[in-house]
Amino acid sequence: MLIDKIQALLSEVGGLQATDEKALEALRIKYLSKKGVVNDLMGEFRNVAPEQKREIGMKLNELKSALQDKLTELRQSLATKEDDHSDLDLTRTPYPITLGTRHPLSIVKNEIIDIFHRLGFSIADGPEIEDDLHVFTAMNFAEDHPARDMQDTFFIEANQEDVKKNIVLRTHTSSVQARAMEHSQPPIRIICPGRVYRNEAISYRAHAFFHQVEALYIDKNVSFTDLKQVLLLFAKEMFGEDTQIRLRPSYFPFTEPSAEMDISCNICGGKGCPFCKGTGWVEILGCGMVDPNVLEANGIDSKVYSGYALGMGIERITNLKYRVNDLRLFSENDTRFLKEFEAAN
Ligand code: DAH
Repeated sequence: MLIDKIQALLSEVGGLQATDEKALEALRIKYLSKKGVVNDLMGEFRNVAPEQKREIGMKLNELKSALQDKLTELRQSLATKEDDHSDLDLTRTPYPITLGTRHPLSIVKNEIIDIFHRLGFSIADGPEIEDDLHVFTAMNFAEDHPARDMQDTFFIEANQEDVKKNIVLRTHTSSVQARAMEHSQPPIRIICPGRVYRNEAISYRAHAFFHQVEALYIDKNVSFTDLKQVLLLFAKEMFGEDTQIRLRPSYFPFTEPSAEMDISCNICGGKGCPFCKGTGWVEILGCGMVDPNVLEANGIDSKVYSGYALGMGIERITNLKYRVNDLRLFSENDTRFLKEFEAAN
């Protein structure tokens, strides 16, 4: 009987529940949509005997409005649930905001820049993707110099018949010397920090990329004494007043004469320890008087001007200052390692 069906549905209405919008919509579709229960009942209602129409019609309307009221009620209670922030604990301490720290290589780089800045050097920059001319040829490397070999240098574009057209990742910041000279005349007094690349297997003591700082001073009457003076001052500023330096003859294509500089071991104070292999000295940089060939190749008159240059690895200096003995740590971005330098920032 239709009346019984309506009655049964009426008694269900009170217990209807919807935990979210989706469930609420499902109820609407089930009961009140075109193909819903109420519409079906309307269809059946058409066949009801005329004398029963009034009673059943009223019941059906009662069901329809009960359902509409119920859905409205459920919709309202869902809305108030969303606005309910009673479980928010406003007294709770916020998540800690961790501040970043400067990378140790940046700390040391800035320190080096700062020392040279006080001596009147200004910063110069050059590209990391560089041509053969600036990395090798203008720096007086012979065409068959082993540094040009695939084993040492990353080639971006290699045209082996004409080495001068090769595009490489710069293997040293000395390329910035060539860039600086080509655009200006002395006096030139620059410092060039930057990243360099070499085709090395990565291990604790070698990496495919690392960082250097280059310094170049060209003017009239620049002598080796000037170089030594700057080196001593740099060593003392960087490693402490008691630091001593020692120069050993060496060879670089772009300087003549060339030297490598050692400092008295800052770990044992020069007495000899495992770090300096018992010698009391550790090597920190290469330097020399700019080779006249380099001046001429870059458009500077070598009869009028002379200059000195030096280059050092930032990782090396950082190792000495902070005893980081695995190069890979510098590029792993492990925050536990980086946090150790908080105090130095
Ligand atoms: N470019 C050299 C290197 O990568 C370092 C160097 C040595 C730079 C002597 C200089 C210098 O300016 O005079 O090993």
